[in-house]
Amino acid sequence: MGELISKQLLKVRMMERKQIHDIPWEERPAFHVSSPTGWMNDPNGFSVFHDRYHLFFQYHPFSKKWGPMHWGHCVSDDFIRWEFLPAALAPDEAYDEGGCYSGSGIEADGEHVLIYTGVIDRYLEDGFHYYRQVQCLARGNGTDYQKSEKNPIITSESTPDGSSLEDFRDPKIWKDEDGFSLVVGSRGPDGTGQILLYHAENLEQWKFVTVLDQSRGEYGKMWECPDFFPLGEMQVLMVSPQDMRARGLEFHNGNNSIFLTGKYDQKTHRFEREQVVSVDYGLDFYAPQTLLAKDGRRVLIGWMQSWDAKISPAAFQWSGMMTIPRELTFKKGRVYQAPVRELEQYRRNPVCYENQLIQESTVLEGIRGRVLELLVEITGFSFEHFWIRFAQNDDYEMLLQYNHRRKILTVDRTHSGIDRDVICRRKMDLIPMTGEDGKEIVKLRILLDKYSVEVFANDGEKVMSSVFYTPLEADGILFDSDGTACMNIKKYDICVQR
Ligand code: FRU
Repeated sequence: MGELISKQLLKVRMMERKQIHDIPWEERPAFHVSSPTGWMNDPNGFSVFHDRYHLFFQYHPFSKKWGPMHWGHCVSDDFIRWEFLPAALAPDEAYDEGGCYSGSGIEADGEHVLIYTGVIDRYLEDGFHYYRQVQCLARGNGTDYQKSEKNPIITSESTPDGSSLEDFRDPKIWKDEDGFSLVVGSRGPDGTGQILLYHAENLEQWKFVTVLDQSRGEYGKMWECPDFFPLGEMQVLMVSPQDMRARGLEFHNGNNSIFLTGKYDQKTHRFEREQVVSVDYGLDFYAPQTLLAKDGRRVLIGWMQSWDAKISPAAFQWSGMMTIPRELTFKKGRVYQAPVRELEQYRRNPVCYENQLIQESTVLEGIRGRVLELLVEITGFSFEHFWIRFAQNDDYEMLLQYNHRRKILTVDRTHSGIDRDVICRRKMDLIPMTGEDGKEIVKLRILLDKYSVEVFANDGEKVMSSVFYTPLEADGILFDSDGTACMNIKKYDICVQR
């Protein structure tokens, strides 16, 4: 049985205590979770416990590179102001010596229950490399967690015939009428992704129920980080496939995160998929996970970085951040996303322009900065291209371009100061909405937080998230068009006190 706090975890906690204070708050995003120290990837264990929001994450505190995975931990009362807590899990048992990989959390019987993937990675005496991924459980009080004596609680021997014994990870748990269910990522006999459903009456004895859905080679290889939840009339299966092929402007090459929406029959456990779309159309987004808040909101958070573009300034001692938590709703045949409403409490210094005409590069008084929210409504379209340049000065700019003829929104970080050979531009289809007056309107809600931009387009029909590490002194915002654009603009600074 594991000790309450192993030597390995104690070492991390001591190191964190010292290093977290070495990193100045000014260097961090103001209202996005960033790594306490070292490397961060996927959000994990996003859950409500004792009325607070807990977020854990894949964490390698010893360097800015991915390494043996720990679980870092933070907590918030409103999704916006986050406080670091000591790391929660370290790879310190035989069944997770290769890492405590992604997983989820719930409150059950007054305890905070975490379920995660343990990686067994060892060479046997005869030189044979033994590698397995297994599901494990830990219980805690919101700060300290003890791994179950019954670990591992699910092994890949319980998967359907022909499934991968090695790729079996990222359990997402929820409570249901007669116990608990979880989904976990796997690879089927054809080597491509599948999602397995398990059920348990108590938290330690799990039975395989069914294969909920499969890639069949169409949507990438391994399906990582599944989540499965009802949203309005629909059921959403959310997965992060590896090795996808680009398709139109919907998916890009490599790791994507996708919503598979459809109908679910609780009795037969049949999921009938109807639609597959991207969760986010930006440059940096992966491995999202949701929680169900007490007021019924389904809230999503994602890792705002990408495996193939791990950019972070050399001087920083941290790498990796999360998106703003987003409320999900299902309407007009899609999953819509909006920043959690709590963000609005942090709006300050409003600046407003109505029916502003943009005919050339224009600076609007009072609109500049790197920690803010910009609400732009384009109502007049006598142009082909319209641009917003932000994080801008003589040397740098981040670019948003709307092409009205082709109905395409582009985010471009080519001139953000990046010195790496990574993807810098992505486009998405964006059809104008019909406004109350029956005329075309394009709405962009833009969140800037020092090193990131999230664009919620047309009331959250589509989102684009990207990071850029442009020096903070580049804080200009320019509006421009090649004809005449008419728009309403509102800016709020976002002020989060530390
Ligand atoms: C997704 C992922 C997960 C895994 C974790 C390891 O980004 O590859 O499948 O559990 O990261 O850090």
